[in-house]
Amino acid sequence: MPETESNRNLTLERNLALELVRVTEAAALASSRLMGRGDNIAVDAAAVDAMRAMLDTVPMDGIVVIGEGEKDEAPMLYNGERIGDGSPPHCDIAVDPVDGTKLTANGRGNALAVIALADRDTMYQPGPCVYMNKIAVGPNARGAIDLDLSATENLRRVADALGKSIRDLTAVILDRPRHIDLIEEVRSAGARIRLIPDGDVAGALSTAWPESGADILFGIGGTPEGVIAAAALKCMGGDIQGRLWPRDEAEREGAIAEGIDLDRKLGLDDLVASDNCFFAATGVTDGDLLQGVRFSALGPSTQSLVMRSRSGTIRLINTNHRRDKMSQLPPAE
Ligand code: FBP
Repeated sequence: MPETESNRNLTLERNLALELVRVTEAAALASSRLMGRGDNIAVDAAAVDAMRAMLDTVPMDGIVVIGEGEKDEAPMLYNGERIGDGSPPHCDIAVDPVDGTKLTANGRGNALAVIALADRDTMYQPGPCVYMNKIAVGPNARGAIDLDLSATENLRRVADALGKSIRDLTAVILDRPRHIDLIEEVRSAGARIRLIPDGDVAGALSTAWPESGADILFGIGGTPEGVIAAAALKCMGGDIQGRLWPRDEAEREGAIAEGIDLDRKLGLDDLVASDNCFFAATGVTDGDLLQGVRFSALGPSTQSLVMRSRSGTIRLINTNHRRDKMSQLPPAE
């Protein structure tokens, strides 16, 4: 269908949630075969191939705005790639075929295959900046966070919102040398810390998932992961703020040349402006939120989370995949 002013911003009338879960299931099934084999590249390649193939079957006109990088570097799911059969709805797509590539390769928990989708031109495009400083919370602490305040002050405000003391809070932080001062401050404030080796999409989601026991996520992680987490938190009623964090002078200058305001504090609606977004995730390895892929004699099983912001629906989907019917997926070896 030709793109006209009148149909360009058609909202996502169809519930694409179940279409999307097939996409993350395919990525999880393919990549989980490589769990613990120590090969990051193979994990990522398996997930990208499977996700890309399944995306072709989704009836939509999607543009990848958060993908595997620029076209020259990534042959598939590159930024700007058009996905779907070209029919409405017209949408932005953000993917991380495996958030936790190293976790999977090293046989560790909390790796997820994730995708988010929103109305066209409503997802934040971070330019060349790979990292973002983030702070995220679940629905009960929505409105309590402020990236301009110290970690201690944010902990105080979140504790008040949740009716707990700071010492009862659990903060999720990526285990990185760049977080030494942050970790020291959170320790001094008295909160507990869950240091995660990787996977801050799962980390951000866990703050909105009561059973996970996490209350707040702090720290510098991937910008793509920040936009994807924002879509998820919008569906869950949580909150996130971010600010781009250039790694070096070249990245800073590149961003400024593209007209990006590096001082801007990005709120939930800046990261994903649409109130109609979708998020799907499937566990690759066992985690705080979702079980990873399991294999039985009949075939593998997966656990997925599928959400839509407009309806506020959150679905947990357990799927049994019959080995004899899975011809579209890559072989086990
Ligand atoms: P990938 O598995 O997609 O590579 O990302 C893993 C991850 O831990 C993200 O969750 C996080 O945002 C980012 O990497 C942090 O980057 P770095 O490992 O460079 O600190």
